[in-house]
Amino acid sequence: MKNDLCQQFNRLYHKDAENAFFSPGRVNLIGEHIDYNGGLVMPCAITFGTYLLVSFNDDNIFRFRSLNFEDQFDIPLQRSYTKTGAGWFNYPLGIIDFFLRDGHQLRGIDMMFYGDIPISSGLSSSASIEVVTAFALNELLNCGYSRLDLVKLSKSVENNFIGVNSGIMDQFAVAFGEKNKALMLNCDTLEYQAVDTNLGDYILAIINTNKPRNLAESKYNERVRECKGALAALQQKLDIQNLCDIDTATFNQYKYLIKDEVLLKRAQHVIEENDRVKLAASALSKNNLAEFGRLMYASHDSLRDLYEVSGIELDTVAEYAKTDPNVAGARMTGAGFGGCAIALVKEDAFDSFSKQVIAYYTDKIGYAPSVYRSLIGDGVGVLESVIGGR
Ligand code: GLA
Repeated sequence: MKNDLCQQFNRLYHKDAENAFFSPGRVNLIGEHIDYNGGLVMPCAITFGTYLLVSFNDDNIFRFRSLNFEDQFDIPLQRSYTKTGAGWFNYPLGIIDFFLRDGHQLRGIDMMFYGDIPISSGLSSSASIEVVTAFALNELLNCGYSRLDLVKLSKSVENNFIGVNSGIMDQFAVAFGEKNKALMLNCDTLEYQAVDTNLGDYILAIINTNKPRNLAESKYNERVRECKGALAALQQKLDIQNLCDIDTATFNQYKYLIKDEVLLKRAQHVIEENDRVKLAASALSKNNLAEFGRLMYASHDSLRDLYEVSGIELDTVAEYAKTDPNVAGARMTGAGFGGCAIALVKEDAFDSFSKQVIAYYTDKIGYAPSVYRSLIGDGVGVLESVIGGR
């Protein structure tokens, strides 16, 4: 892989790349739409991700090229930048803008990106490109940011430069991921534990619905606003900072404060999902995959009925999974509105699962999903070390 990329870099820039970096994408096992509510989440980095090859130039120009997209972008070194159109290069541009505004001296850089994460699939290609750029600049220019700083600054670029009010889960997962581990992350305190994903006879499958996620950003921001509304209602009586500061029992006692039916459903999902993550962590530690799978299905149902971020495509995958005795559990992963689902599938039945879910889905939806076997990999790093572990 690295040699191919080096050749492509040479083809584009007529010189050799000086450095290469890799940042993964992620799947979230459980704990959906609760990171921005101070909840517990359980993401893992995957072995698909974003490669970045770079070389400094003496022209004081930032050059952005991608092997995935036709559009390219060149911009001279300035004091700061704003989002320019809707192009992919806004993610790395936003990171450069952050470094400049934070007082770092930058010089021209020729960049080439390549991603093998299916685009717009909900596997965090955006966090991956943000974090790989931030990691690379930090290394190349000795800026002294910690890994957690890189996570926070990448999230701030997503929120303020790109304009999506996402939580911190994706950037955290792609920066701190560890091979064969899930991160139990408390999104309020940012304390985390890397726990073994010992799936026994099972493996994790990723099912990409291949549904374009058109309305995802505006709907996402709408959900964030709805949660704020529900929190404000509860704060009339409760001294809390986040919806996830209370458990389901307390919520049931105070939910009368939320008068709006829609906000009530949103809050119920968030608080119950947070409780489900605690149960899921305990099930995983006891290798109780049947219970873990049951919680996955419950999470999906709640995202479908209460949070309303699923859709017929993702529901069809979960619906098929429930009929397959070789599947312990399945659910949508990430923001939803299309994108990917994950399923815990018996390893020796993966091929038949794959065939059958493709047939069932194609019959109902009219086009095929893509099915992958997901491997859990390491977080962002210099390419050699990442490649060595792949
Ligand atoms: C997107 C966001 C995350 C998180 C998930 C839903 O991936 O970037 O912060 O909110 O959706 O759990």
